[in-house]
Amino acid sequence: MKLAVLLCSALAVCHGAEVKQSRKFPNYFVFGVGTAAYQIEGAWNEDGKGENIWDYLTHTNPSAIVDQSNGDIACDSYHNYKRDIEMLRELGVSVYRFSVSWSRILPEGLSYYINEAGITYYNNLIDELLKYNIQPMITIYHWDLPQRLQELGGFMNPLIADWFEDYARIVFKTFGDRVKFFATFNEPSEICSGYGSLGKAPMLNETGFGDYLCARNLLLAHAKAYHLYNDEFRPTQGGVIGFILAVSSTEPLTDSEEDKFAVELYSQATWGIYTDPIYSKEGGFPKELVERVAAKSAAQGYSRSRLPDFSEEEKAFILGTSDFFGVNHYSGSYVSQTLYTSQHAIPSALDDIEMGTYAPDEWLQSASSWFQLMPNSVHIFLKLINARYPGVRIYITENGWSSREGIVDEDRVNYYRSALEGVLDALDEGINVHGYLAWSLMDNFEWMAGYSERFGLYEVDFNDPNRTRTPRKSAFIYKNIMKTRMVDHDYEPESYVMTIDEGH
Ligand code: NOJ
Repeated sequence: MKLAVLLCSALAVCHGAEVKQSRKFPNYFVFGVGTAAYQIEGAWNEDGKGENIWDYLTHTNPSAIVDQSNGDIACDSYHNYKRDIEMLRELGVSVYRFSVSWSRILPEGLSYYINEAGITYYNNLIDELLKYNIQPMITIYHWDLPQRLQELGGFMNPLIADWFEDYARIVFKTFGDRVKFFATFNEPSEICSGYGSLGKAPMLNETGFGDYLCARNLLLAHAKAYHLYNDEFRPTQGGVIGFILAVSSTEPLTDSEEDKFAVELYSQATWGIYTDPIYSKEGGFPKELVERVAAKSAAQGYSRSRLPDFSEEEKAFILGTSDFFGVNHYSGSYVSQTLYTSQHAIPSALDDIEMGTYAPDEWLQSASSWFQLMPNSVHIFLKLINARYPGVRIYITENGWSSREGIVDEDRVNYYRSALEGVLDALDEGINVHGYLAWSLMDNFEWMAGYSERFGLYEVDFNDPNRTRTPRKSAFIYKNIMKTRMVDHDYEPESYVMTIDEGH
């Protein structure tokens, strides 16, 4: 141990990173990494897989993707999954979060025809993980809706709740004997942005309408799958099932009461709309948001609010349907209604709340235009969640940094170190965080950004038919954090050759 650390510990008066080095993650805290099917698997039409909305979008409208690429091959994990698991062993993770591709299992989306080859792929993946004591966490839906269901309206059709329930039943029935950790939906806000903007497939762009309708239908679908697991599978399988939200960090622009309320309203519109119905005391959509959308809708001449509310029965059905709060976190900003500009689409969610955000220029910019490094952002968002739902059990299901192509990733190294210090700060305050999954195991298809933005601990060479994976420095740093269960800011890898430690 360095002299400075010893002195600091003895005096207990130092600030900054060094004194914090002695803090350890508790034993119950799990570490891992995540990926998602469309982003890594490739084999888009192999062995009976059906078309999904990302296959359709990238093939019919390639210019929607920054580099006109697609996930046809991606990391080719359909063929390389054993190498992926070798990387998980190299890192020494205890949890691997991956998603199941709906159209690989049900090519038409509906449950009348099951593609056995798809089942075999996931069975092999799960068995290989368990062989090395790595706990699988399945995301049942990570944005890749079967195209056939989209043609029937997708998340605009209330029947999505039944279709999703049927699909989830197959997932529980087939994999639930070995998988004990499920999440229904990944980032509902992004799923619904596919209906309320041009930001994701299927690019419906029904702003301030499609996104709200989607929120309603998606929550009912989630609740159906939760009840199904709870009633029919949990008694024999004994696992947990939750929901995964995107939560950014927000602080008021000034100390004014208006700006403090702006944080609340912004939280309601960006994530509370999905979480209050599940985790709040009374259930239902957030009160002020409901009032604002109703008032704006009326002023715009609509005879009903564009945010269709739940019946009392539906509210009760959704309330409490999650065993944990899964959260993906990246960016942060200041918020204020004084930052509102009339440039938002009308109608739209941001126009409904008349809100604007601001990220100072000095904040480090990642390769993703939407992602700036807000100081202490991990600690801030954990406090936001805990303040809203005191004591809720939290798993950070995604967190990481985006860079451009290339092996050098000093910014990612710094990002992970300070993010994990933020988790330790939250743990010190008694916030109930139980795990951290880095995003991502390796570079992959970053949706509208194609391969132009890289989130991987391992770099993937997309020009190489073998899709060779090479560990970046951040892989060694994260490995050391998991192994020592501490954040050592001075640690430097002895070499850049990855090996599998004993016991993995
Ligand atoms: C959240 C999404 O779940 C994931 O698919 C995406 O790659 C990351 N954010 C980074 O944008």
